[in-house]
Amino acid sequence: MNEPMTAFRDSTILLTGAASGLGRMMARTMAAEGARLVLWDVDARGLEATHAELAATRAPVTTYVCDLSDRAAIAATAARTLADCGPVDILVNNAGVVSGKTLLDAADADIERTFAVNALALFWVTRAFLPAMLARNRGHVVTIASAAGLVGTSRLVDYCASKHAAVGFDESLRFELRRERSKVLTTVVCPFYISTGMFAGVRTRVPWLLPILEPEYAVRRILAAIRTDRRRLIMPRVVVTTYLARVLPVAAFDAIMDFLGVSRSMDEFRGRTPH
Ligand SMILES: NC(=O)c1ccc[n+]([C@@H]2O[C@H](COP(=O)([O-])OP(=O)(O)OC[C@H]3O[C@@H](n4cnc5c(N)ncnc54)[C@H](OP(=O)(O)O)[C@@H]3O)[C@@H](O)[C@H]2O)c1
Repeated sequence: MNEPMTAFRDSTILLTGAASGLGRMMARTMAAEGARLVLWDVDARGLEATHAELAATRAPVTTYVCDLSDRAAIAATAARTLADCGPVDILVNNAGVVSGKTLLDAADADIERTFAVNALALFWVTRAFLPAMLARNRGHVVTIASAAGLVGTSRLVDYCASKHAAVGFDESLRFELRRERSKVLTTVVCPFYISTGMFAGVRTRVPWLLPILEPEYAVRRILAAIRTDRRRLIMPRVVVTTYLARVLPVAAFDAIMDFLGVSRSMDEFRGRTPH
C-alpha cells in the first residue's frame, strides 16, 4: 500500500469552487483531517454555508469571494490570501462552469466564461501560488479537469475544449517542474459525470460500464489520489481506454463513443438550477 505523502494535517489548502459540489465535500474531509483551509468561490452565500458547516471541525477556515473569470480579482484575492494565510501547500483548482449549449447556441459570453473559469483561471491562480511552493521546494497543484478533457462531445464544445486545456496545463506544468527537479507535484483528475447537480439531466447509455459517479465516491478517490501523490486519476477506469481508441480510425472511435452513448449524453441536460 502507498504511504500517504501529501498529508492534509497542518497543511494550508486552497480550494476553489468550495461553495458547492465536490469543493464543499473535499473541504469537509480536509477540515476533519486537520488542514488549514482557504476557500474561494464566486457564490458568497454558498461559501458562507460551507464555512458554517465546517465550524464544528474547529479547523481554521478563511473564505474569500472571488470571481475566477476576472484576472484582476484573482490577483487581488491571491495577494490577500498570501498576506492573511501565508504560502499554500496544496492548491486545488476545482471551480468550473458548464453552459451545455451547442457551438452556435452559446452566447459569446458563455464561451468566454467557460474558458476564463475552466482554463485561464488555472494559469492566474497557479502563477500566484507556485513561486512560494518553488521557493520552499514543496507543494501540490491539483487540477480538477474532466473526462471531457480527454474526449469531446456535442453540446460541450466550449467545456470540452476548456478541459482539454486543463489536461494540457497539468501535463506541461508537470514537465516544467520535472526539468527544474522540483519536488512540487501535480495531479490531474478526469472524472466522467458526477451527480453533484452541475450536469443534472445527463445520461449514460451503458451504466454498468460507464456509470454516472456518486459525489461521495468521486471525492474519496480524488482525496486518495492527492494524499498518495498520484499524478493522474481517471474514473471510471473504462475512460482510460479512450487513449487506446485514439489509434483507431476516426469512424471507429466515433462508433465506440456512440455505443457508449457519450455523443448523446447531453441531450437531456438541464444543469444546475440558478441560485
Ligand atoms: N459534476 C460533474 O459531472 C463533473 C465531472 C467532471 C469534472 N467536473 C469538474 O469538477 C469541478 C467541480 O464540479 P462540481 O460538480 O462540484 O460543480 P459545482 O457543484 O457547480 O461547483 C462548482 C463551484 O465553482 C463555482 N464557480 C463557478 N464559477 C466561478 C467563478 N467564476 N469564480 C469562482 N467560483 C466559481 C460555482 O459557483 P456557482 O454555483 O455560483 O456557479 C460552484 O460553487 C469542476 O471543475 C467541474 O468541471 C465535474
